[in-house]
Amino acid sequence: MNICDDLADSAGAFHNRRTFRTASEAPEMIGKLNHVAIAVPDLDAAARRYRDALGAHVGAPQDEPDHGVTLVFVELPNTKIELLHPLGEGSPIAAFLAKNPSGGIHHVCYEVEDVAAARDRLVADGARVLGDGTPRIGAHGNPVIFLHPKDFDGTLVELEQVPA
Ligand code: CO
Repeated sequence: MNICDDLADSAGAFHNRRTFRTASEAPEMIGKLNHVAIAVPDLDAAARRYRDALGAHVGAPQDEPDHGVTLVFVELPNTKIELLHPLGEGSPIAAFLAKNPSGGIHHVCYEVEDVAAARDRLVADGARVLGDGTPRIGAHGNPVIFLHPKDFDGTLVELEQVPA
């Protein structure tokens, strides 16, 4: 799946035709903020900044060839920061950095108990899932999907299945 190709398709009307339910009508779905992912042009410099300047617990770089990224996890008391750097040909992060040379927030990741059920509910509401909609195994070893930023306030949203 190439995220950038998926992002290029035309805007849907999800946000226009959606009728919002009240909290009492809609079953709960979204859970904790699992991580915020930040694309960085210099992974070592970014890791040092979080470790030395900010005093965070910073993990070792981890290559994820299937996702076209090398990542470093920063553990915070209430969530994680995922520092992303391009790996290999056609990395979606390379295209992002071409547009944002000093880096930037790439996506946010929310936890759900059942990612397939979450996908089905969102698709029924008119939201678009990137790729063919099949959950893939993400960097944490759990199934994930990505939702189109045009349907979520200009923000790429990852949903990760984390059993309660
Ligand atoms: Co992520």
